[in-house]
Amino acid sequence: MDQIDTSKSFVNKVFRYMKNDMPVETFMEKFHVNSAELTGIVELCKLYGKDISIEVDNTDTLVFKKNASKIEFISKLGIDNPKLTHSEICVVSDTHFGNNHQQLHLLNEVYQEAYNRGIKTVLHVGDVVDGNYPNRPENPRQQFLHGFDEQASYVVDMYPLVDGMTTYYILGSHDETHYKNGQATVNEWISRCRKDMIYLGQDTGEILIDKVKTVLDHPGGGSAQSVSYKPQKRIEILESHLKPKLLLIGHYHKSYAFSYRNVQCILVPCLCDKTQFQQKQGLSNDLGAYFIDMYSDQYGNIQYFEPEEILFGKQDVWDEADKDRKRVKQLVISNGKY
Ligand SMILES: [Fe+2]
Ligand SMILES: [Fe+2]
Repeated sequence: MDQIDTSKSFVNKVFRYMKNDMPVETFMEKFHVNSAELTGIVELCKLYGKDISIEVDNTDTLVFKKNASKIEFISKLGIDNPKLTHSEICVVSDTHFGNNHQQLHLLNEVYQEAYNRGIKTVLHVGDVVDGNYPNRPENPRQQFLHGFDEQASYVVDMYPLVDGMTTYYILGSHDETHYKNGQATVNEWISRCRKDMIYLGQDTGEILIDKVKTVLDHPGGGSAQSVSYKPQKRIEILESHLKPKLLLIGHYHKSYAFSYRNVQCILVPCLCDKTQFQQKQGLSNDLGAYFIDMYSDQYGNIQYFEPEEILFGKQDVWDEADKDRKRVKQLVISNGKY
C-alpha cells in the first residue's frame, strides 16, 4: 500500500472487514499492508471511535478483538461456512420530522453510508414525525411543521430515496398523536406515495431478515433508571415461541446493545437533537444508528451477530435555527448517481 487512506469511508470499509477473532494475517493479505501499516490502521479506527484492538489468542495467533460484550459468537461454525446466510441491515429511529431540532442531514449521512455498504434494507423504529400535542401549549413553538398534512408530506418529499433500498417502519408514540387527534395515520400517506417505504405496524411490527425473526418495538412511557431494565422485562414476558431472535427498540433515544435469553436486543438511538421537553426533564439523548452484520442458519438462528454503533457527537449536530430544515435537500440516489 503506497499511502494509507485516512478517510471515514476507508475506516468504515476496513472495520467491516475485521471480524472478531480474525487472524490479522488474513487482513494484511487482503489489504496488502505490513505490520507497521496495520498498527496505523488500528489507531486510525480508534480515532474514528471504533472499538478494535489486536490480541494474542490461545494458539499464539494475533487476532482482532472488537468490543466483545456486543458480539455474539453462538456457533462453532466459521462465518465462511456456506450453510450460513450473511445479512447486513441498517437501523434508525426517532427522526421526529417537523421538530425544530430534527437532523435530516444526519439521516442522509446514514443512508449514504448504507448505500456505500450495499445495504438494501433499513428499519425505522418509530416516531418518524414529531406529532401534534394539543395539550402542550408550547408544542407549536417547538415545531416548524404543524399538523398532519405538513408532517406527512415532509416525509413523502424528503425521506431519502435510494434505488434498490427499502425502508420498513413502524409508527411510534409521536406519530400516533395524529390518529388520536383526528384518526389520521401517517403510514397511510407515506406508503401510498412511497413504494420504497413499507409499514409494519403501530407500536410494534415483525419482519424476517432472511429467516431471522425480527421485531421492531416502540414502547410508550418514560425511561427506567437502567437502560436495559425495560427491554429485559419485555423479553421476559414473551413466550418462548413468540420470542424474536432480534429485538429493536425505539422511543428511548438511547443506544445500547445486549443479548438476553437468546435474543439480540438493541436500543436504537434517535436522529433528532435534544428537544426542549427532554432538556426540561433532564433526559439524555443519544444520536446515531446501527449497522448490523449477522450470519444465520437455515432455521433463522443467529450464529454470528455484530452490531456496529454509529454515534454522532455535538460537532455533527446542526443547532443553528433553520439550518437543517432550509439547507438540506432530499437524498436521492438513482442508478448510482446523486
Ligand atoms: Fe421519540
Ligand atoms: Fe416515542
